[in-house]
Amino acid sequence: MSTEHALASTPETTPAARSLRADDGLLPVAPASGRGRSHGTSSSEAFDRWFRYPAGFASDYVSLLLSRLDIPGGSVIVDPFAGSGVTGTSARRMGYSFFGIEAHPAIAELAALKLQPKQGNLDELTKVAHHLIKRTKQDATNVDLSFSSETDLVRRCFAPGALAQLVTLRELIKDGEAGNWLLHAKWALLSTLRDVAAVRVGWPYQNPTKARKARFSDVLSRFEQRLSWMRDDLLELTSPQPKHLKLEVVHGDSTDEGSWTSLTNGSAQGCVSSPPYLNNFDYADATRLEMYFWGDAGSWAELCSTVRSKMITATTQQSSVGAAEAASQQLRNYGDVAKRIYDVADELKAERLARKRGKEYDRVVPDYFAAIAKVLTNLSSALEPGAPVVWLIGDSAPYGVYVDTPSIIAELAGQVGFTTEDDHPLRRRGQRWAQNATRHQVELSERLLTLRR
Ligand SMILES: C[S@@+](CC[C@H](N)C(=O)[O-])C[C@H]1O[C@@H](n2cnc3c(N)ncnc32)[C@H](O)[C@@H]1O
Repeated sequence: MSTEHALASTPETTPAARSLRADDGLLPVAPASGRGRSHGTSSSEAFDRWFRYPAGFASDYVSLLLSRLDIPGGSVIVDPFAGSGVTGTSARRMGYSFFGIEAHPAIAELAALKLQPKQGNLDELTKVAHHLIKRTKQDATNVDLSFSSETDLVRRCFAPGALAQLVTLRELIKDGEAGNWLLHAKWALLSTLRDVAAVRVGWPYQNPTKARKARFSDVLSRFEQRLSWMRDDLLELTSPQPKHLKLEVVHGDSTDEGSWTSLTNGSAQGCVSSPPYLNNFDYADATRLEMYFWGDAGSWAELCSTVRSKMITATTQQSSVGAAEAASQQLRNYGDVAKRIYDVADELKAERLARKRGKEYDRVVPDYFAAIAKVLTNLSSALEPGAPVVWLIGDSAPYGVYVDTPSIIAELAGQVGFTTEDDHPLRRRGQRWAQNATRHQVELSERLLTLRR
């Protein structure tokens, strides 16, 4: 989610309010850290700093939202688009249980890792770092500098000496040299990649043709730093974890009822989430460097099949004629809002046909909203009556056709048992591209949608 310009600017510190009202002065705006950055998760807050996932929340922002919802301690908070688990870590800090669903397999693994209870002796993490670093210093000199088994992207992102150390660390970790801390070492290493890359690897595009000075030249000390942050963050946790606290992240598709089965119907008390925006942002592509480096995918086709398969359609690359038709059929069950969606799709179709190689936004739109409707249906079953839901979501304007995503979602929610309490503009978006002459001039914003089950 992009966060360039706050529309309101006074951070609110008064205690909990029942709902987030635009007019009562209690609307949460940018808090001290994390928010205000244009690419996702905070790089400084505990747990958030494990990996900077684009489009992530910052946990202090989620804590602020949760505190405004006035949900009793011990409640279950749900996030059907859990991402890197920021809602989960904030919920845990505030004494709530958490249930999240995330479609990206690696990011779901990361979220689950952050939510594991504190276990073992955390000094082992320091020992593991020292052991891996010592072994890397010994073994990296033997690495074949042609890197013939790495993908082209990986080969081109790093100076040879840095890549030799990264690859050596990876193989040591995969060989079990990090013992019980394998996943921590893996994520410390994956987070180190963009820190030490010698080309532009900003989010979302990794562009190996554009050289840059590596932000950190010493791979091993950066890796050690990242493991030591993990240790410090884990030290914060209460041990043993309170018995009532249940923290779970499912790798799954939140449109699919089957992903929700470990949560009893009506057992959750609140939801804070941020669905994918209808802005062609590709979460699979955005994490391509990490996926290729770890060996989870070696080609675009593999990336699509392993990473995208459970995701809702929010990009033209994911769209298809068949899925769009099936979605349009499904939307007939949702009353008048279906017509709004069909009208937008028709306008987008006209724009596509007016171009030589127009993009299929008209196919994305029905598919996206049909999927959101399914998620809302599943969420409605999971929540107890009266439970509040806060979604952070932006509107969009492909080819200049305005899609009021938050208000369409609010209407769909109304069809499956929610009432809308508030739809509040939070920030302007898209300012980064304002000077681009070919871009539309429609003003976009990010909104906080508050629903009640
Ligand atoms: C805007 S991001 C949310 C990020 C999250 N708030 C965080 O702090 O990291 C949307 C997330 O929804 C995930 N997603 C997309 N389709 C999904 C689906 N059908 N089920 C579950 N997660 C999905 C994407 O992979 C992405 O991580």
